[in-house]
Amino acid sequence: MLVGSLTSRLVNSLISIRITNNRLTNNEIWRVMKSIRDVEVRNKRVFLRVDFNVPMKNGEIIDDNRIKASISTIQYLLDNDAKIIIGTHVGRPEGKVNTEFSNVPMARELAKLLVQEVTVTDHVINDKILLEKIESMQAKDIIVLGNLRFHAEEEANNHMFAKKLASYAEIYVNDAFAVSHRANASVDAITSYLPSYSGLLLESEITSLSLLLKNPQPPFVMIIGGAKVKDKAGLIKTLAKKADRILIGGAVANTFLLAKGEEVGNSLVEKDMVEDCKKMLLELQDKIILPVDTVKDGEGNDSKIMDIGHSTIARFRSEIINAGSIFWNGNLGYTEDERFQEGTKAIAEAIEQNTFGVKVAAGGDTVGFLDQNNMQKSFSFVSTGGGAALEFLAGEKLPGIEALDKSQI
Ligand code: 3PG
Repeated sequence: MLVGSLTSRLVNSLISIRITNNRLTNNEIWRVMKSIRDVEVRNKRVFLRVDFNVPMKNGEIIDDNRIKASISTIQYLLDNDAKIIIGTHVGRPEGKVNTEFSNVPMARELAKLLVQEVTVTDHVINDKILLEKIESMQAKDIIVLGNLRFHAEEEANNHMFAKKLASYAEIYVNDAFAVSHRANASVDAITSYLPSYSGLLLESEITSLSLLLKNPQPPFVMIIGGAKVKDKAGLIKTLAKKADRILIGGAVANTFLLAKGEEVGNSLVEKDMVEDCKKMLLELQDKIILPVDTVKDGEGNDSKIMDIGHSTIARFRSEIINAGSIFWNGNLGYTEDERFQEGTKAIAEAIEQNTFGVKVAAGGDTVGFLDQNNMQKSFSFVSTGGGAALEFLAGEKLPGIEALDKSQI
């Protein structure tokens, strides 16, 4: 199946649109990682893993920051006459083709930003036209493959699948910091089959986050919200070793509130995390600050927590205003709906008013929200990673970064 054209010049057939030591800490990795700048890419086919998993509404991109963030590496490859094969995942289609998770809008956006023709296909492997297209690539050509997660093998870190992807190219570049915490085939296994390098975005993410990891100015305040409860709740214990305060909002807070015995109605909770959350609340009572009031949609058992309330905003604000370092990942309410944006906006304003701290924001939804409200400029660094940035700051080893380390080719 083929998809529609991306720019007026797009063709219709396919839519024309070293690390040496495992014990190195995250702080040290960036200094020794093999960089895209260390390899001759001229006339070579480069498999570039990016993260174009951007927030969407009604089929439209509502924030293109992650795509913009990948431009420096793509431009570097274009300037050096490489042939670029781009791979990304979009959403969680669970191994099945699902047009809701098409990456055509992202490829179209990329063509617009680069002002150049970009070929996009919804195929990833086993397609004759795609193979012919890859074989006939010229320097500066760009092909965007279909959503890698349309194949279950991607998230299974399957080596046969990775080998097929690797067969398209001579060099592999990971510029997808935001998915480097996932041991996926195009992030991890592929590095067994191609000489592997970091892209410019990956390097800048690691460099900037390492500064916060290594030497945060106290008090270090972390603000954790968003919806990926399982990923985040499990990390809070580790993050607490670095942070002086952890302010929790968004859906992540619901499980903690339930663990505290509060009424959460029909809110999104992670039941199997309740016991862990109870323990964390006991052990980390001087660090974790939960919402003291919430904004709900609906009544009684059917009600859902949608935002933090005014008293919570005031409590969080008092911590933020005096912070020496701030790390923020995840919106505090369901900001897709304008009625529930107040908490997130108030927290962004409080961060803006802190004029002396090092301030880092991370994650697609948070960065998108800041962008829409023109509030990015007051941050010292804006990371494209959500879960990846959290894991990095928790001091965990990220499979994508580890894989670049171990790659011996
Ligand atoms: C993200 O948005 O955090 C990354 O793209 C990873 O997506 P995932 O949580 O679905 O693996």
